[in-house]
Amino acid sequence: MKNKDVVLITGASAGFGHDTARELLKMGYDVYATARRLEPMADLEKMGATLIKVDVTSDDDVKNAVDRIISEKGQIDIVYGNAGYGIYGNIENISLDDLKYQYDVNLFGQARLIQAVLPHMRARKSGRIILTASLMSHLSTAGLGWYASTKHALFAMGTALRQEVRGLGIKVIMIHPGAVKTNFDNVAIKTLDKIDYPDDYKPLMKGFREYIIQSYETCPGPESTVKDMVHAGTARKPKAIYDTTGQARIMKRLIKWLNSSLLDRIVLSMYSRPSHV
Ligand SMILES: NC(=O)c1ccc[n+]([C@@H]2O[C@H](COP(=O)([O-])OP(=O)(O)OC[C@H]3O[C@@H](n4cnc5c(N)ncnc54)[C@H](OP(=O)(O)O)[C@@H]3O)[C@@H](O)[C@H]2O)c1
Repeated sequence: MKNKDVVLITGASAGFGHDTARELLKMGYDVYATARRLEPMADLEKMGATLIKVDVTSDDDVKNAVDRIISEKGQIDIVYGNAGYGIYGNIENISLDDLKYQYDVNLFGQARLIQAVLPHMRARKSGRIILTASLMSHLSTAGLGWYASTKHALFAMGTALRQEVRGLGIKVIMIHPGAVKTNFDNVAIKTLDKIDYPDDYKPLMKGFREYIIQSYETCPGPESTVKDMVHAGTARKPKAIYDTTGQARIMKRLIKWLNSSLLDRIVLSMYSRPSHV
């Protein structure tokens, strides 16, 4: 029997968003798959998804998509705020324009989505909002600082939102993957390679780049994260937080035991640079 729950997913043209959309379509959900690029979602359309071109940095795109779904279906049951990317590089040399854009996608994109869907969910006293955060919501390391700051902010916002709407029949769920092989690392490495570093940072950033490339060669694929994202959207009693990979689960526990000095030494030795701590 067809499940008529209506799902909206941002960032469905690749990675977690794409595969979550595919699994929900297989289960019979009514899926609106959105991203800036439509062609990589052609397979989802063949499976029954409705595709909408949405850039999450556009107020109009997000609002129009939500309005269209409400006018076509009268409801939105499950929303995945998943679109995002990683801006990699050192704190000093990522340009302010690039940094503002990173926040526009990773944080304000979620704000646009949440503020557009909540009035409809409140009116029906029902709904789920699933936010793709990160292990980097809890941890920050050299080379990842600005990206991690967006995910820390997302985690802070998501925690408050979960409490604010709990009594209104709306569930807020956060997804925390560690490194996972999607298209994410390709995009992140491009942002890193754009930066013209002063010589002072070159050894550190070279080590960081090698470390990231190696991590993404050996990290898991998207399956466990997608399984958790589907569970978050469909289980009768979803968890508030899913740490979706072994790395995310282990690191989250470990961070609690590390003081700053030890953390710095571990990170810098991972990047093969003599520690100055
Ligand atoms: N993979 C990891 O290691 C990892 C770990 C922790 C958290 N995450 C988070 O997981 C989420 C999904 O990432 P992924 O790993 O699946 O990466 P991905 O394969 O690169 O997919 C990213 C998706 O986001 C969309 N997107 C990017 N900018 C957008 C914009 N301005 N407007 C609308 N859509 C946009 C992309 O679509 P278009 O380019 O077509 O717009 C694409 O569909 C992100 O929030 C990321 O921060 C990833």
